[in-house]
Amino acid sequence: MSSFPQTRLRRTRSTGWSRAMHREVLVTPADLIWPLFVTEGQSVEDPIGSLPGVSRWSVDGIVARAKEAVSLGIPCLALFPNTQADRRSENGAEALNPDNLMCRAIRAIKDACGDDIGVLTDVALDPYTSHGQDGLIDDAGYVLNDATVEALVGQSLNQAAAGADIIAPSDMMDGRIGAIRDALEGAGHVNVQIMSYAAKYASAFYGPFRDAVGSSGLLKGDKKTYQMDPANAEEALREVEMDLAEGADSVMVKPGLPYLDIAVRVKQAFGVPVFAYQVSGEYAMIEAAVAAGAANRDAMVLETLLAFKRAGCSGVLTYHAAHAARLMGA
Ligand code: PBG
Repeated sequence: MSSFPQTRLRRTRSTGWSRAMHREVLVTPADLIWPLFVTEGQSVEDPIGSLPGVSRWSVDGIVARAKEAVSLGIPCLALFPNTQADRRSENGAEALNPDNLMCRAIRAIKDACGDDIGVLTDVALDPYTSHGQDGLIDDAGYVLNDATVEALVGQSLNQAAAGADIIAPSDMMDGRIGAIRDALEGAGHVNVQIMSYAAKYASAFYGPFRDAVGSSGLLKGDKKTYQMDPANAEEALREVEMDLAEGADSVMVKPGLPYLDIAVRVKQAFGVPVFAYQVSGEYAMIEAAVAAGAANRDAMVLETLLAFKRAGCSGVLTYHAAHAARLMGA
């Protein structure tokens, strides 16, 4: 063991060039996935109150954001629809409509940008159900597993047919990755990836997102019978192990910063591509701190992204993606 003063750890920190040379991880625009909310209409930009600086865009605006992302070097978009209230139903059948908002957005991006950008699509029924749960419910309001998986398979095939590059099930039903993988293979979508929301927690950090997709006013109760208990880490490893065995190409940990320990453990245990979702509540916390004069946005955004890379993540879903890419000099 080296000791002071032979070793002074401050030596390598003493100048900018030396700090640059000793930096262990780097964050670049290629590490970012940009979540976007789609809404009906033409030339619509609809700001989301609980997510200052984030808007819902009509499909034409989404295409403009996709082109912006390409120019910034962001490799992938994550799409979420704000489904009109009159298209929501008890069983979320709109998720299977080949002409739904999501499919129209996927096709428009792919027509405009082709393989210059990836499109990751959320698979879960909550943007389409009248009750705001991610799956089909029984009379008591319990979310049914196997019946929901069938619907999710249909939703995945619908999105893949529209041109989705990565199917991202965020519903936390058991067995859905294997069922979706089989169906994609059967339909010839052999190169459509699955990024599993494998360790997704029943978190208090999703509030603004539920506003954004329009399900916060509809949701009764919570999602604790399917999303994970924030107290559990060992269980996250089992979730990841099963999703990998069922054919997930990559896995996600969600939320992000409060669950960095999970990201580290997943990476160390499996050595697979791990992504973190810095969720809406995390974004809102940063923006609230900035608005209160308590933080420097640019420094805070870059520091949080670095934390994910240090933890071993391959990339981060963040609402700050475009801003961060600009800060990185893209
Ligand atoms: C639901 C879904 C949620 C998010 C992504 N997909 C919310 C939830 O589980 O209620 C949250 C993302 C965020 O908060 O930014 N399928």
